Amino acid sequence: MSKSWSIWRTKPLRALFAESERSGLTKTLGPFDLVALGIGAIIGTGIFVLTGVAAAQYAGPGLVFSFVLAGIAAGLAALAYAELASTIPVAGSAYTYSYAVLGEFVAWIVGWNLMLEYMVAAGAVAIGWGAYVVELLRSVGILLPAALVNSPVAGGIINLPAVAIALLITVLVLRGLQQTKTVNKAIVLIKLAVIVLFIVLGVRFVDPANWSPFLPFGPLGIVQGAAIIFFAYIGFDAVATAAEESKKPQRDLPIGIIGSLLVATVLYIAVTVVLTGLVPYTQLNTASPVATALLRAGIPVAGSIVAVGALAGISSVLLVMLYAQSRIFFAMSRDGLLPRVFSQVHPRFRTPHVSILAVGMVVVLTAGFLPIHIVAQLANIGTLTAFVITSVGVLVLRRTRPDLPRTFKTPGMPWTPLLAIAFSAYLILNLPPLTWARFAVWMSLGILIYFLYSYRRSKLAPEGKPPGWRSLVATPAAKPVPPTPGQKDRT
Ligand code: ALA
Repeated sequence: MSKSWSIWRTKPLRALFAESERSGLTKTLGPFDLVALGIGAIIGTGIFVLTGVAAAQYAGPGLVFSFVLAGIAAGLAALAYAELASTIPVAGSAYTYSYAVLGEFVAWIVGWNLMLEYMVAAGAVAIGWGAYVVELLRSVGILLPAALVNSPVAGGIINLPAVAIALLITVLVLRGLQQTKTVNKAIVLIKLAVIVLFIVLGVRFVDPANWSPFLPFGPLGIVQGAAIIFFAYIGFDAVATAAEESKKPQRDLPIGIIGSLLVATVLYIAVTVVLTGLVPYTQLNTASPVATALLRAGIPVAGSIVAVGALAGISSVLLVMLYAQSRIFFAMSRDGLLPRVFSQVHPRFRTPHVSILAVGMVVVLTAGFLPIHIVAQLANIGTLTAFVITSVGVLVLRRTRPDLPRTFKTPGMPWTPLLAIAFSAYLILNLPPLTWARFAVWMSLGILIYFLYSYRRSKLAPEGKPPGWRSLVATPAAKPVPPTPGQKDRT
């Protein structure tokens, strides 16, 4: 492995594959498991919770176009992820791809952003779960004390329901994928069933008058709504983090990524059309809009069933997010960028237990003490940034390694990744400036940690002390081995 002090040092693909074979993770996942993993990760707090605020405050009934817009951004990025996952099917997803293609510093930045996408997003998901519990209990006359169901920012002390679900899911993930897989599949079925129930029942009570005015906040509302509900699409790339536990990753990862995103997009559009037709958009500003809309439309029993299903559905999102984040920690630790303990595999459960516990702790703290909108917007900006970098990665890898076998190829090159970059950047620009500021703080912290710790401890760092700052960027990256004519193996 060629070592250097350059921040552009890349990890040879050969090393990635060798590590993947040694990882010790059990290979149990087939194509259906991967689609289920994707749906499990995607459909949750975004559609069940954030839709309400987005309709009431940003887009009105035009929210359906927000879902189309955000769906296009996610879909374009999904094609890039599918190609990279089929070419480099090893754990770590966008982080690993960037390490092989764009160099260590970019990989670190992606890994740092993925923490927003999974760990921080998981906090928002747990808060969404808590909101449904509170509403459900309220519907049967049980009122939980406000101080114990709200974060300090929202005037409470701690959000206990959110903390409870985060703890429970951490334990499940810790116990290993065999159990997790079965639980996840069952939950995914319940989740799909309640969404179909909502659409089928709700459509009979739709009053087209509720769709007027269609764009109460103007066309800009659509874009701002899209920047918020983009959260609903986060998660399809979690499929790629399961590469090393997948039986035929090159064939099945693209199926899992694109299949799960397609299912989610169709359901989201249908749910939004029905939801905004059931009640005036102004009444959707609640923590459990999907259940509340049925209640207000006069079918409270259906509302309760949907609420219970939403609780199950949101749990599976949490499950996959914790799972995915722990695998990313695992990969980063294996590369020396995070302390070695994070890549230890538990002898009995065969899971990276230290990573899981660390992630679980952060999720518990986020869920207990922060409000949902701040957390969700941070997750969005981090994910969109990772989308941009991954799309650049596809463009670069096609140029530097045209010889690599790709079981899935992004169509419409180079326009598809370029459009993915443009759409993601556009959504980032439409997030509130305060979110950019928080993101800037997060990124600065990440860069600091990289230079103080990861840059020196990386497995690609040579022995001894790092030389002066000039060598950081002056040394060219360890260039990928140029393909020999007719070569088809991955080196
Ligand atoms: N897409 C996931 C959700 O909406 C994060 O809960």
